[in-house]
Amino acid sequence: MRIDQISGAIKAFPAMPGAALKLMTLADAPGTTIQQIEDILRQDPGLTANLLKLANSAYFGIPSKVGSVRQALMLLGLKRLIQLVVATCASAIIDRGVPGYDLPAGELWRHSLAVSVAAKGLAGELKLQAADEIFTAGLLHDIGKLILGQFVQEEYPQIERALAQGMAFEAAEKAVIGIDHAEIGAHVLAQWALPDNIVHAVRWHHAPEECEHIDVMLDVVHVANMLCLMIGIGVGREGLLHEPSHIVTRRLGLEPPHLEKVASQTLQWVNELSQALATA
Ligand SMILES: [Fe+2]
Ligand SMILES: [Fe+2]
Repeated sequence: MRIDQISGAIKAFPAMPGAALKLMTLADAPGTTIQQIEDILRQDPGLTANLLKLANSAYFGIPSKVGSVRQALMLLGLKRLIQLVVATCASAIIDRGVPGYDLPAGELWRHSLAVSVAAKGLAGELKLQAADEIFTAGLLHDIGKLILGQFVQEEYPQIERALAQGMAFEAAEKAVIGIDHAEIGAHVLAQWALPDNIVHAVRWHHAPEECEHIDVMLDVVHVANMLCLMIGIGVGREGLLHEPSHIVTRRLGLEPPHLEKVASQTLQWVNELSQALATA
């Protein structure tokens, strides 16, 4: 059965690298030392190298060159350092083409990065306190597409019919395949044992009003995703006709100038981060 095939694909999905998971646990543990962080990263020189590249990107605007984990930790703080570790690990998993959604190699990664920085930017505009995990939630929000893509491809004629009747893409996934990419993504992240608030934001990113409780992080990721689709980053078959939920923008207190400001900066932020990762 289709649903069995999909749950098999979720189970077979690559695990989040151990270093990222260990660091995420340490981020919440009291009394974490620099030594512990260094010990974990020492075991993965490739990850450390990419982490330092990102730390040196224009996006973070650190004036001096970051040459070591210790320095990165001092300049960025543990939470931001962990975001970079997750970003580095996620890029290896997400940076490929996704059939079904018409996303060429690199495009889902670019979209994911864009939603992360836009979410972070919106959180900054709104002066939100608990914005630490927003970057990670933004980065991973569409990870379910990596699994669902193959099934979307197989069922595309039917999905296209649903879209022609005015159905939203994720609603068409659910109607035709029985599950949408947001729900699949939440299963993957729960399997990775990521914090519940991240899993939750990913699960409801297309339907924040349907979720049982109000969650600011979810609302921000929802708006950031719509914003990136509206400005055309990683659109594929989802199309350009998107708008954030009015209920959500109202309860966040988001005004058009906030959205315009973040929309105008997002592309530059994405370029700064992706250029840093691309440098050898
Ligand atoms: Fe999505
Ligand atoms: Fe998205």
